[in-house]
Amino acid sequence: MSTVVNAEQVQRWNGDTARRWIAQRERHASVRERLTPHLLRAAAVSPGDRVLDVGCGCGETTVAVARSAGPDGGVLGLDLSGPMQEVACRLAAEAGVANLRFVQGDAQVYPLPPAAFDLVISSFGVMFFDDPAAAFGNLRTALRPGGRLAFLCWQDALRNEVFAIALRAFMRHAQLPAAVDDDLFADPRRVIDLLGGAGFTDIRVAAVHERARIGSDFADVMGYVRSTSKVRELMARLGDEVLARRVLATMAEEFAARQDRDGVWVRAAAWLVTAGSG
Ligand SMILES: C[S@@+](CC[C@H](N)C(=O)[O-])C[C@H]1O[C@@H](n2cnc3c(N)ncnc32)[C@H](O)[C@@H]1O
Repeated sequence: MSTVVNAEQVQRWNGDTARRWIAQRERHASVRERLTPHLLRAAAVSPGDRVLDVGCGCGETTVAVARSAGPDGGVLGLDLSGPMQEVACRLAAEAGVANLRFVQGDAQVYPLPPAAFDLVISSFGVMFFDDPAAAFGNLRTALRPGGRLAFLCWQDALRNEVFAIALRAFMRHAQLPAAVDDDLFADPRRVIDLLGGAGFTDIRVAAVHERARIGSDFADVMGYVRSTSKVRELMARLGDEVLARRVLATMAEEFAARQDRDGVWVRAAAWLVTAGSG
């Protein structure tokens, strides 16, 4: 493991959050099912490419791009989480994909070899840095001149139903803490400034809107949503059982209204960010 920064995130992604993420892996994959192809199309990995997958989690995108990179290329999956890396190694072995490697480390400070990659990608794995400028500086130096960056991050939580339904239910009955609104990656102007400051060029931020299947029925989705750290944190802050029951009833109504024959579908809103290494 490299120098310890992002201590809170290290703890989260090696503790409860990682356990819950692994338990919900298939649900998360289903939520991302229509989003990931946008990233893979933008990445356009070719045979022979050397790719870095940042915050690769359980390695689904790592395996997908390793297939495109072929035997002459390869992928390094970099993630803070030991438990998720174990799952990633198992899934890659099961998929019979050998041209990849996983390392546990912090993308903000991990000593990546300079100019070693053609492409840096991430599926929702670059949103957790204490010092995003340092992290993207580190990632840029790992790209060769003429290399490319492509990542997905979430739009504003209140415009993205993956999170907005729960948040709006709280807002209907109580006031949300201001911190919920302060998400650098939700604001394309701040992302452009961040990447420009780290030396990236030709920075583009494209909106991606897709339906996302979040569960089989509203009871299943409620069980999941109630287990998420954000909702547990907001419930704890609420500290009022009557209000909590109202919030949950509002959420349940909203998810029930989105029930389709094959599950509960919400409208996901992400940003697809692409840039060149200069
Ligand atoms: C929301 S999950 C996304 C995982 C995976 N890319 C996916 O799409 O399923 C975020 C991932 O970023 C990782 N992560 C968070 N901060 C990180 C950092 N500073 N360096 C490397 N990985 C980090 C977490 O451990 C977690 O696996």
